[in-house]
Formats: sequence, structure tokens, C-alpha cells
Amino acid sequence: MEIKRYSFQQHGDDRGMLVALEELKDIPFSVRRIYYIYDTLAGVRRGFHAHKNLKQILVCVKGSCKLHLDNGFETEEVLLDKPYEGIYLDNNIWREMYDFSEDAVLLVLASEYYDEADYIRDYQKFLEFVNAGGK
Ligand code: TYD
Repeated sequence: MEIKRYSFQQHGDDRGMLVALEELKDIPFSVRRIYYIYDTLAGVRRGFHAHKNLKQILVCVKGSCKLHLDNGFETEEVLLDKPYEGIYLDNNIWREMYDFSEDAVLLVLASEYYDEADYIRDYQKFLEFVNAGGK
């Protein structure tokens, strides 16, 4: 399963570090929405959905977490633990997030506004959707 990883440019000096993300430059889509997940309780696993159209970049800007990714044919586990590394999630990828460190802040840049109709929250329906071509 091909997962696109981004290593963002770090601007560091004797004060510390800074990463800047610009849409259609560092981020391969126009960013309509930003959200972040934090204060995740120990042992929690969340996500359990895919999107029909939405594209996202995930960055664990603090702490660490893991992603279970599944395109309906292959799966992959990804560790996010660097504030300058992003993972691109195309549409039609089932995702679960787990193993959040206590201090984890998972930042998500999304290509669309929140739309419940874009979610596939049933794994069997996700498999049927991708096996039918994902459209
Ligand atoms: P949820 O979809 O359960 O998060 P995840 O699947 O990533 O674990 O979202 C939790 C709540 O937040 C739910 O009530 C919907 C709401 N929400 C928004 O209002 N806007 C958003 O952009 C997102 C991602 C969630």
C-alpha cells in the first residue's frame, strides 16, 4: 500500500523550530478545514471510517500516535511522531488512530468542510464501495 509521506521544511534557529504549511504548495489541496485531536484517553482507538471524497494531511504536532490504514486490499500501520512529518490520506482509505501518547496533538488538514454524507462508517460497506471502484 503506497502511503505518501511529507517531510515539511523546518525553520530552526537558536530560538527553536517552526513549520509553515501553504495550501497547494506544501499541502496538495486547498485547505477548507483544520481540526485537531488532543487529550485522548489511554487505550482509545478512534476514526473507524473512510471518506468518499475527502483528502487529508495528518501531522502529529506533539507526542505520538499510530494509524491503521486500509485501502480495502492492503493494510499498513504508520507511526506519527514528528511535528514536521505529514501523512497524506487519499479518499477511500479506512483509518483508525490508536496508541496516542498522553501529550499527543494530532493536527488534520482537510480538503472539504465537515460533511457526514462523505463518511463511510461501516467497514463492510467500505469494502463493497472500494470493490465497486470507489465511486
Ligand atoms: P468523530 O467523527 O467521531 O471523530 P473521529 O472519527 O475522527 O474519531 O468526531 C467527533 C465529533 O466531532 C462528532 O460529533 C463530529 C464532530 N466533528 C465536527 O463537528 N467537525 C469535524 O470536522 C470533525 C472531524 C468532527
